[in-house]
Amino acid sequence: MTFHKACTLDDVWEGEMTEVEIGEHEVLLVGMEGGDVRAFQAACPHQDIPLCEGKFDGKVLTCRAHQWTFDARTGQGLNPGDCKLASYPVRIQGNDVLVQVE
Ligand code: FES
Repeated sequence: MTFHKACTLDDVWEGEMTEVEIGEHEVLLVGMEGGDVRAFQAACPHQDIPLCEGKFDGKVLTCRAHQWTFDARTGQGLNPGDCKLASYPVRIQGNDVLVQVE
């Protein structure tokens, strides 16, 4: 169970998101309102569009292609509600954001 450095806190200010590659995993990191960081699969479960090309307001992720929305605390689909983003454990160490992708 290894945590890998994904980025620094400067890359994911509140309301921002970024995509990183960790090994063969494409990971989306989002800076939550309040300062937490969450990590999810980077591609939309609908048609694989990169979610980092969409919008994020600190709470809700919106895919640019067909406007599917996701709760960025949990990855749960909001509209439609019958989907969910895979999430990865995140750990903050100093200024580094570490993610466990196994
Ligand atoms: Fe994301 Fe369709 S590809 S909503």
